[in-house]
Amino acid sequence: MIIAIDGPAGSGKSTISKLVAKDLDLIYLDTGAMYRLVTLKALKMGILDENLENLDKINELLDNLEIDIREDGFYLDGVDVSEEIRKPIVSENVSKIAAIKEVRIKMVDLQRAFSKAKNVILDGRDIGTVVFPNADLKVFLVADARERANRRYKELTEKGENVSLEEIYQNILMRDKIDSTREEAPLKKAEDAVEVDTTSKNIDEVKEKILNLYKNL
Ligand code: CDP
Repeated sequence: MIIAIDGPAGSGKSTISKLVAKDLDLIYLDTGAMYRLVTLKALKMGILDENLENLDKINELLDNLEIDIREDGFYLDGVDVSEEIRKPIVSENVSKIAAIKEVRIKMVDLQRAFSKAKNVILDGRDIGTVVFPNADLKVFLVADARERANRRYKELTEKGENVSLEEIYQNILMRDKIDSTREEAPLKKAEDAVEVDTTSKNIDEVKEKILNLYKNL
């Protein structure tokens, strides 16, 4: 069983995916976290300011990348960086890194290997279009950009992050633009995905909607 949940930043993918995973006893994979791990590595290697088209640097990064997705968190080179990958500096740079073909090839390979012979729910931008075009169920979550910014603001301030709502809103608009206009696996609804607008729905309503879609498969 493979469930694909795609959509733009802050549309509720990870919250919903975790809940659905629990209900249906599926393993959840947050593919956005994987691109965030690569971005953090690039920041640590100091290669973001250089021309990202310098493929030698990108290949060096990918060859030395040790990522581990465990139940208790995301590890980069043996260190739990689950908190660090949500920081604004990572959000500001992740879409540039995720647009690089070599990065995507490696991440998609890892996502398919991780999911092999498992019942999984994955969330991201290209799960239903590229990673698993034959997924059993595909959902495309959308929401008004202001509402998405409000949600992300609440989430980050609750964690004690010092962020501004306007900065978050601008970051969301910027990522929507880069993610949906890039050449490689752009963010878009798969033809056979069910679109769910979460703007004025609460978490339970969205969860129930997806569980119903699953029951009717
Ligand atoms: O949680 P949020 O919606 O802020 O984003 P995320 O799911 O953590 O993804 C961060 C970034 O990774 C996105 O803005 C995309 O640039 C990239 N991404 C991607 O290209 N493909 C995926 N399957 C998942 C994420």
